[in-house]
Amino acid sequence: MAHALIFDSGVGGLTVSAEIRKRLPALQQTYAADDEFRPYGEKTDAQLKDRLPGLLWTLSETAQVDFAVIACNTASTAALKEIRNALDIPVIGVVPAVKPAAGVTKTGRFAVLGTPGTVRREYVNNLIQDFATDKEVVLLGSTQLVALAEDKLAGRRVDLTALTREISPLFDKADVDTVVLACTHFPLLKDELAAASPPDIQWIDSGEAIARRVETVVSEIKARPARPGADLALLLGSDLDPERRKAFQGYGFERVVSLMPG
Ligand code: DGL
Repeated sequence: MAHALIFDSGVGGLTVSAEIRKRLPALQQTYAADDEFRPYGEKTDAQLKDRLPGLLWTLSETAQVDFAVIACNTASTAALKEIRNALDIPVIGVVPAVKPAAGVTKTGRFAVLGTPGTVRREYVNNLIQDFATDKEVVLLGSTQLVALAEDKLAGRRVDLTALTREISPLFDKADVDTVVLACTHFPLLKDELAAASPPDIQWIDSGEAIARRVETVVSEIKARPARPGADLALLLGSDLDPERRKAFQGYGFERVVSLMPG
């Protein structure tokens, strides 16, 4: 079976990894979390384009993977082309689920909840132009939700007051019935988000679509010989917090290693 690199700025990519694991349990996964440079949503396009191609090249060469999944909307919408140019293996990115949301909304009003970087990008605007011109789309960027998702996976209490305050602009217009979770961290907060929102909101993320895409890529490539060893998570530039380690292990990454710069 093939070997994939799953990459995100933190724990968000675990939501994508889990969907991939459900579909392809035998796929070997190496996870990398760029803790040192998070939050990506506060970085400029130039900063992400500058950092990511080289970092992804180093990680994929070191781990000897067959393909890479950029399990991060912010990185994908800013630098997917540049990352693809730097790597000679297939690279799968995450696209905010604007098209599916446009297909399921009944009120014709849906929201895209991402990082500040993602929601202001041309990429998202183009998706809206292509698939949702007849809909009303509310865009909301939040960095705090990324931090709250990190808190949750590190075993810290999620501040529900802060979460509720953060998402309240989504529902200023009463008939938003669908919310695109356009940041891979946000499905980790699905229960908290649902509890803080009007009932019957449909929450849509891209995890399953990415898993389907991975399945196609795996069927098309010729994988290198399998390497022995349990799945590994690399935490870039952060100390190993025991609760966070447990969270990674819960997602199937038995070995968790912290890599400090220098
Ligand atoms: N998980 C990332 C995403 O999907 C972003 C988190 C961050 O801002 O670093 O956009």
